[in-house]
Amino acid sequence: MGLGSSPITFVVAGALLSYILFTRLQLYLARRSFIRQNGCEPCPKRYNKEPLLGWDVVKENIANKNERKMLERNQKRFHDMGVNTFLNKMLYMPMIITCEPENIKTILSLKFKDYSFGNRKHAFGPLLGDGIFNSDGEKWHNSRHLLRPNFARDQIADLEAFDRHFKLMLKHIPRDGSTVDLQNLFFKLTIDSATEFLFNHSTNSLRMSEDDTNNEDAIFARAFQFAQDDIITRLRWNVFNFLRKNKEGEDALKICHAYVDKFVEQAIREHQAEKLAGKPDDDRYVFIKELVKQTNDKERIRNELMNILLAGRDTTASLLSNMFFQIALRPDIWAKLREEVASLEGRLPTYEELRNLKYLKWCLNESLRTHPVVPGNSRFAIKDTVLPLGGGADGKAPLFVNKGTIVAYSPYAMHRRTDFYGPDAEEYKPERWESLRPGWEYLPFNGGPRICLGQQYALTEASFVTVRLLQEFSKIESRDPNGGLWEEGLTLTVCSGNGVQVGLTPA
Ligand code: HEM
Repeated sequence: MGLGSSPITFVVAGALLSYILFTRLQLYLARRSFIRQNGCEPCPKRYNKEPLLGWDVVKENIANKNERKMLERNQKRFHDMGVNTFLNKMLYMPMIITCEPENIKTILSLKFKDYSFGNRKHAFGPLLGDGIFNSDGEKWHNSRHLLRPNFARDQIADLEAFDRHFKLMLKHIPRDGSTVDLQNLFFKLTIDSATEFLFNHSTNSLRMSEDDTNNEDAIFARAFQFAQDDIITRLRWNVFNFLRKNKEGEDALKICHAYVDKFVEQAIREHQAEKLAGKPDDDRYVFIKELVKQTNDKERIRNELMNILLAGRDTTASLLSNMFFQIALRPDIWAKLREEVASLEGRLPTYEELRNLKYLKWCLNESLRTHPVVPGNSRFAIKDTVLPLGGGADGKAPLFVNKGTIVAYSPYAMHRRTDFYGPDAEEYKPERWESLRPGWEYLPFNGGPRICLGQQYALTEASFVTVRLLQEFSKIESRDPNGGLWEEGLTLTVCSGNGVQVGLTPA
C-alpha cells in the first residue's frame, strides 16, 4: 500500500480539513455578529464589472492616465453612480473608494490603528527606507517623535535663504514679456531651498546653466527625479515588480544615498568637533544639524532626510504651479493681490506680515481646494473594521471593512462636492474663503496623527515666493498652449501637465 492512501494520511487530511472548516466558520460567525453589532449594511454600488481581477478598471485607468484625465474621471465615477462611497477591485485587491469626510476622518483619526500603508512600503522602501513617510506602527512613532520637535518651531523656514534662491530664479524670468515656464522654475527653486534647509548644502540648480549637467549636484537632482518616478512604476507593477529589470533605477538609488551620506557624515563630524570645542549653537536653523544632536545613526538620519525631501519638494512646487496657473488667467486676482502686497512698500515681508496677507491666504487655500497637491491617497485595513457611511441603499448606514481591504480616498473629488462648496465648486474663487470654515471636507494636508509636518514651511515658502513675484511684476499673462484649460500632470503629486507658461511685465 502506498503512503498516499495510508489510513494516517486520511486522518491527517481529515483533521486539516476540519480545522480549516472550523476556523472559517468561526470567522464567518464572528464577522456576522460584528456586522450586526455595528449596524452595517452592504454597499450597493460596485465599479468593476469583471469580478475576479477587475481588469476592466485596470484598462480604464491606463487610458485615463494616458489622456491625463485620471482625476476628472475618478470624480465622475462618484457622480455616475450617485454615491460618495463604492466598491471596486483592481488586480484582485478588494477596494472601497470614498470621498466622504466622515469616512476619511475615521480612517485617519478615529480608527487610525485599524489601518496601515499596505503595499505602498514596498514601492517607496528602496529610496526612503524606514523613514517617517514610509513606516507604520512603532517605527513611524519613533520617526515622528524624532522629527516633530524640529517642525514645531515657529520660524522653521528661513526667509533670507528663500530670498537668495528667489533672486536666482528671477534671473531666469525674461523682462521683455516673452514666455517662461514658471512651473519648471518653481521645481528648481524648491529643490534648491529644500536641500539647503535639510542638508546644509543646496543643489543650486538655479545657479547652473542648461548645459552644466555633469556636476555632483545636477547628477543628484536627476537621480532623485528618476528614483521618485521609479516609485510610481513600482506602485503600478505592484506584486509583479520583481519581473522588471531596472539597472538605471538601482544606479539612481546608489547616487541618491551616497550624496546624502556625505552630508550626514560631515554633519556628525562637525557636531563632534563643536562639542569638543564647546562652541555655541549657530543661529541659523539647519535640519541635519538638529538631527545629529539627537542621534548618530547615519542610516536613520539619511532616511529621514530623504523622506522629508520627497514629502516637501514637489508638493510646494506643485502648489505654486497650480495657483499661478489659475491667477495668470485672472488679471482681477493679480490686481487684488498686488494691492494687498503694496502695504509692504517694496520691503521683504516678515513672518508676521506674510501670515497677515489675507487675500493671498485665500488664493493658496483655493488652489489647494480645486487642485489638492496630493489628490488621492489610501490606507490598508489590518483588521476587520467599520466605516460610518457607505452602507445601505442611501449610503447612510455603516459599512463593514474586511481585513485586507484597501480604502482609497479622494480629496480631489471631495473638494469639488457641490453639497459642501456650492454649485460653483469647480471654479477657482478665492473670495469664497471669506466665509468658508471647512472641517474634514477640506483636507490638503491630511489629518489625524499623520497630518503633514511641513504645512507651515510650505505655506511660508509659497507665500514668500508669491509676494516677491508680485513685487517684481505688475502684470501676468497666461500663454497656456491649451487655452487655459488645466491638464493634469499626475505623479505622486499633481501639477499642470503643460507647465505654467506665462509672460510677465516688470513693475
Ligand atoms: C503644499 C505643500 C504640501 C502638501 C499639500 C503636503 C501634503 C501632505 C499630505 C497629504 C501628507 C500625508 C501623506 C500620507 O500620510 O499618506 C503629508 C505628510 C507629510 N508631509 Fe507634507 N505636504 C506639503 C509640504 C510639505 C513640506 C514642505 C514638508 C517638509 C519640509 C512636508 C513634510 C511632510 C512629512 C514629514 C509628512 C509625513 C508625516 C507622517 O507620516 O507622520 N510636507 N504631507
